[in-house]
Amino acid sequence: MTNAVKKDNKTAVPWWRISFGEPEVQKLRDSVLSEHISAGPVTEEFEKQLADQLDVAYAVATTSGSVALLMALMALDIQENDEIIMPNRTWIATAHAALMLKAKPVLIDVVKDVPLMDVSAIEEKITSKTKAILLVHLNGRSVDMKAIEIIKKKYNIPVIEDACQAIFSKNPQGFLGTQSEIGCFSLGTTKLISSGQGGVVVTQNKGIYEKLKAIRNHGVKDNFTDHWSSLGFNFKYTDLQASFALVQLTRVDGRIKRLKDIYREYKEGLKGHPLLRLVPTKLEEGELPLYAEILCLDRRRLTTYLELNGVQVRPLPPSLDISDYIQKKDEFPNSKLFANNGMYLPCGPDQPLENVKRVIDLLKDFRS
Ligand SMILES: Cc1ncc(COP(=O)(O)O)c(C=O)c1O
Repeated sequence: MTNAVKKDNKTAVPWWRISFGEPEVQKLRDSVLSEHISAGPVTEEFEKQLADQLDVAYAVATTSGSVALLMALMALDIQENDEIIMPNRTWIATAHAALMLKAKPVLIDVVKDVPLMDVSAIEEKITSKTKAILLVHLNGRSVDMKAIEIIKKKYNIPVIEDACQAIFSKNPQGFLGTQSEIGCFSLGTTKLISSGQGGVVVTQNKGIYEKLKAIRNHGVKDNFTDHWSSLGFNFKYTDLQASFALVQLTRVDGRIKRLKDIYREYKEGLKGHPLLRLVPTKLEEGELPLYAEILCLDRRRLTTYLELNGVQVRPLPPSLDISDYIQKKDEFPNSKLFANNGMYLPCGPDQPLENVKRVIDLLKDFRS
């Protein structure tokens, strides 16, 4: 695939672009030739390097962001019927991680302006069965961590940050994912750092770190054991994936710059548009918009218009409350706004800015 945008309307502008190069191939080759293919020294090197860059004490790499969430809940000893408070707007993985342990997701609507959990609604949901708050920094936006800190102290409930869409994103207190008991990141294809699949759990707490490492390997320190001490599974990352991801840690600054430039282009280009609204991100506070999200009341017509002009877009995923298997009593009016009208415009750390400019030109011609 070429980065260049041709002048005709048939040119495909993909909704997401990330690319890899010779350095990844070289590092992968080194791992293969040194016979490091499963979890080993390269995985450890990646964990140390990532922890260093994120200024967090410990990082544990695993197979996906979904598994990172599951491991985080297991490390907090979440059991059947425990209640886990979470936002209604997230990727379904957040709820599925809790449901895998037969725990109950307790859903909270998002605020009006941005698809982030309404923290003012948390306290009324806390019961004696509440065992964790699983908050989600959706699209690099920070949940109000000061408010979370107050609730945490008052009720003594542990917090997990689902920062799967927020690696290297910040608020004024520091990196998202590092500001509570446990943080989880995804290394999937549509993330800032990708090894195809992959995930990382981070923590500042040594005890939790030891637990996470055991959970990742059937409850034991290594496979040469004479004892089975606790429940775990094979959630190991591999050195092949770590080689790939490690190289990308050297590209973080450039990728962050590109994502910010893309956001600024859309912000400027869509200013005052009568039919479209860019979902805001606080760049000035360090938030990093992984995706370019807009709201449009006429999403179907806009999608058709852009696709006919060679531009690929994606609707935002549905909210959790529409699933048949998650119990809920409330209405979620703000979530509906994002689920029904939201979409991702072309973005990604290797999306050429000329593609973005072309999309903006098309959007400027989209009128009622
Ligand atoms: C908010 C959120 N949580 C969890 C996940 C799960 O991550 P993975 O796809 O690596 O399993 C994702 C993936 O996109 C996500 O966006």
